[in-house]
Amino acid sequence: MLAFGSRFAACLHPGLVVFLYGNLGAGKTTLARGILHGLGYTRHVKSPTYNLVEIYKFSQLYLYHFDFYRFNDFLEWEDAGFREYFNSKSICLVEWPEKSGDLLPTADLQIFINFLDNGRNIEVRAGTDTGKRYIKTCKNLTTP
Ligand SMILES: Nc1ncnc2c1ncn2[C@@H]1O[C@H](COP(=O)(O)OP(=O)(O)OP(=O)(O)O)[C@@H](O)[C@H]1O
Ligand SMILES: [Mg+2]
Repeated sequence: MLAFGSRFAACLHPGLVVFLYGNLGAGKTTLARGILHGLGYTRHVKSPTYNLVEIYKFSQLYLYHFDFYRFNDFLEWEDAGFREYFNSKSICLVEWPEKSGDLLPTADLQIFINFLDNGRNIEVRAGTDTGKRYIKTCKNLTTP
């Protein structure tokens, strides 16, 4: 999961919105950790379950890692300006997007993680033309 995330990060670019789907413990945060390591972040990556979002600043971009598992405060969403986090200078990774109501923009990429006997299966789908271009560019990088 960490290795895949790291390769997946290699062709990520600002503006991308990535939704992470999978049951509890499937590995969404671990994949996000791999992506952050791939972007060069070396410190601890914690799960945003309690804070809704963790913010990472790189020289050229921001990465916002959301987790909507416990989300219920739509007013906080508006007041805190979280909507503005989805912009052309940032990458947004979102765990549990299905619990966000209809707040979020369309995902460029959707990653589905499923349990296998001895590991996980990862499926990446494009939700926009930008996402389709990403998959074309990134195909070689994400094949082990
Ligand atoms: N491919 C894998 N094989 C085996 N264990 C894994 C794999 N990916 C993640 N794990 C382990 O599964 C546990 C849960 O992972 P993680 O916290 O990333 O899941 P999550 O999908 O973010 O869960 P949640 O829905 O609670 O946020 C961790 O102990 C992690 O190390
Ligand atoms: Mg998680």
